[in-house]
Amino acid sequence: MTTSFHHYVRSLTPMLSAGILAADVMHIGEEIEKLDGTGVKMLHFDVMDGVFCPMITTGPCFIKGVKTKYLKDVHLMVQNPITKISQFAEAGADMITVHLESCPDHIHALIQAIKKLKNVNSVEREIIAGVAINPGTPVDSIKNVLDVVDMITILAVNPGWQGQSFIKTTAKKLQQAISLINESERDILLCIDGGVTKDNIHDIAQMAPDIVVAGSAIFDGKDPQANARFLVETLKKGKAKEIIHET
Ligand code: DX5
Ligand code: ZN
Repeated sequence: MTTSFHHYVRSLTPMLSAGILAADVMHIGEEIEKLDGTGVKMLHFDVMDGVFCPMITTGPCFIKGVKTKYLKDVHLMVQNPITKISQFAEAGADMITVHLESCPDHIHALIQAIKKLKNVNSVEREIIAGVAINPGTPVDSIKNVLDVVDMITILAVNPGWQGQSFIKTTAKKLQQAISLINESERDILLCIDGGVTKDNIHDIAQMAPDIVVAGSAIFDGKDPQANARFLVETLKKGKAKEIIHET
């Protein structure tokens, strides 16, 4: 069943989720303020543990410390996520995405567990539960979670670093994911993450994603506000996704 929070997130799409780890950490509050009026509604937190992928980034303390009106979109690139998801819920996550590769044997149970967590931001919201796949993982491998998952993220780069180049085969994977979502007859959000730039956002918008993550393309140390505005506007002009699912 689709909830009112899910409907709200759907109503925002296509939407840009701002990869906040690319921002100037010495001025994080000011960096977030620069997103005002741009149309951005989500902050994307890339959590990397140095085990699932080489980089170590941040964790629940930082996410909790970011006081914001924006939805907190938490992308967990960590090993053994089942032992960590509740800390991220307590830190204020509105969306928690886990990697299929981090828990292939129990991914269904993991998604169910995320959906049972409380959203501490509001009793009216649940937590949107997402599954992500790396560039080397076939889209078909998520078909057994389509009955429970709220969001699918296709990584367009290998997890680890900001500012990598968009892997071209991602376009085909988006098409495959849209077919699977339509077959599921559920309103599953489709997200693309990594390698998004002002140069390729027009093409990405034609791939009909619901949510697009952009880190370094927004927080380039020059004009985050203009960057975010340009990315949102271009995304909104993209191809509308044909939605065939429950209401
Ligand atoms: C993959 C992460 C990303 C990504 C965003 O490592 O999940 O969210 O690095 O950064 P940009 O937009 O700079 O590719
Ligand atoms: Zn991410």
